Amino acid sequence: MVKIGNANDVADGQMRVFVVDGTKVNVANASGHLYAFDDTCTHMGCSLANGELEGTTVTCACHGSQFDVTSGAVLRGPAQRPVRSLPLQVNGDELLAEA
Ligand code: FES
Repeated sequence: MVKIGNANDVADGQMRVFVVDGTKVNVANASGHLYAFDDTCTHMGCSLANGELEGTTVTCACHGSQFDVTSGAVLRGPAQRPVRSLPLQVNGDELLAEA
């Protein structure tokens, strides 16, 4: 686990991108629960952080694919492959992720 930022950096209902080992990792705050996943949409590579977070669903701004932020699973295409979901830990106010 490596420190990627501060838990307070991600407000409720927001997403924020952190670079972990050269990979853009999106941390989403869904009602106070934090989830980490690859920020790159598996459809055509848009940044999911430019999309919309509603509850635990993120919608890609480019072509509307939807992913479940808790697992990375595809909820709606055109994307077919899940985004990688990363284990995340909050230690005090430190945000730790598995690189
Ligand atoms: S790049 Fe995300 S839906 Fe097309």
